[in-house]
Amino acid sequence: MNILTFQTQEALNKAGAGIITALVQTNPKARLGLATGGTPVGIYQELVDAYKAGTVSFQGVSSFNLDEYIGLERSHEASYYRFMQEQLLGHIDIAPERCHIPNGMAEDLDAECRRYEQLLEDSGQIDLQLLGLGHNGHIGFNEPDVALTRSTHVVQLREQTREANARFFDTPEQVPVQAITMGVGTILKAKMILLVVRGKDKAEIVKQALQGPITTECPASLLQTHPHVVVLLDQEAGSLLV
Ligand code: PGA
Repeated sequence: MNILTFQTQEALNKAGAGIITALVQTNPKARLGLATGGTPVGIYQELVDAYKAGTVSFQGVSSFNLDEYIGLERSHEASYYRFMQEQLLGHIDIAPERCHIPNGMAEDLDAECRRYEQLLEDSGQIDLQLLGLGHNGHIGFNEPDVALTRSTHVVQLREQTREANARFFDTPEQVPVQAITMGVGTILKAKMILLVVRGKDKAEIVKQALQGPITTECPASLLQTHPHVVVLLDQEAGSLLV
């Protein structure tokens, strides 16, 4: 693992966007695995700025999002579909038909999970998977458990996760109880993983994930088994690493 720590959010955002931009410049048909949440927002802003400055084009790029809530219309202000449009995809020249996200409104959710996993399989290996980290060690919505599911599946969200995400909803009760997420096995298939973590409240879980035992009780610890992981941390998130 290559762990980089940054003094400012701006430096971290520029480094994250720089890695993605360099990939797309050298591979215009890159397949990007994308994440939602507060963590990637600054990186997405940098990518939009790079696109607007003419530094990079996403015309040939495909995107595959990690997860989506079950039961929210795409137009819902907290859906991940809408998040991605507002934070990145709606502002760059990526082809809409090459932007993929699980459909949390599908009538047959298991069939939707199989469709998404097959789509990933057929599209070829993801070149770079961007990840945030949950306070409980989740990646995507793979919550800590005695065993993890390998491929895309329906997951029951932990209360801690619902509470953490309540800030994106009018009331905490509105946070869905289920989501569709890529599995840890799906995530680990990516050629490269870019894990980004910010803030003192994540320092303990960063230490567990990167330097603790590999255990399904901290899904992010499985990233230790991947041959090409780059971790971008702010100083607070990295403060407990030894
Ligand atoms: P956050 O979420 O970026 O909003 O902190 C990260 C995650 O839960 O994976």
